[in-house]
Amino acid sequence: MNETGRHTHWQNVYATKAENEVSWYQENPASSLDLVAATGVPSDAAIIDVGGGASRLVDCLLDKGFRRVAVLDLSANALGEAKTRLGRRADAVDWIVADVTTWEPSRTYDLWHDRAAFHFLTEPADREAYVVRLKRAVHHGGHVIIAIVRYNPDALARMLGQDFELVDSRRHDHLTPSGNTQHFQFSRFLRN
Ligand SMILES: C[S@@+](CC[C@H](N)C(=O)[O-])C[C@H]1O[C@@H](n2cnc3c(N)ncnc32)[C@H](O)[C@@H]1O
Repeated sequence: MNETGRHTHWQNVYATKAENEVSWYQENPASSLDLVAATGVPSDAAIIDVGGGASRLVDCLLDKGFRRVAVLDLSANALGEAKTRLGRRADAVDWIVADVTTWEPSRTYDLWHDRAAFHFLTEPADREAYVVRLKRAVHHGGHVIIAIVRYNPDALARMLGQDFELVDSRRHDHLTPSGNTQHFQFSRFLRN
């Protein structure tokens, strides 16, 4: 799918489905929060949730006292859903409407989190463009958490290159709202 097709697809998903009707919905993003805690980043760390959609991770990060949280997604509808849910607390978040494959980061982050966005980039050129942006956005000593359905952490490590050390990888079986199981692989990397 090209960038225009992706945009139309995801805007339509968020316009037509309620938050808890999408297969990836989680009330509590526990695996992501465990891995964020494992990085040991302080509460003033700059964190970005890439392809964050309407996820509740941002709510949980704010609850935990993280003060510099950004959420990037190509769907303004998705971010709108999260903003509405958060109310006034949304003002504390940096909301970025962009396609990660063409995004030009204007700053760097201590922690990059992505649950199931890289997963949807099936074209090699898009995956390469993603990695280029990730390398621009995450400084040396920074952390990367990527969760993908059915993907081998070593293949992901090869994709990121030798700058990124795979320090943790765990599986999480996600029960979808319709009762199916999705096998997620969470990988955590440290940029050397
Ligand atoms: C399966 S959903 C996961 C949402 C969220 N991370 C979560 O765990 O609930 C994938 C998300 O990635 C976004 N997305 C897909 N391709 C993207 C791209 N190229 N750039 C930015 N966001 C993208 C979609 O709009 C969608 O919100």
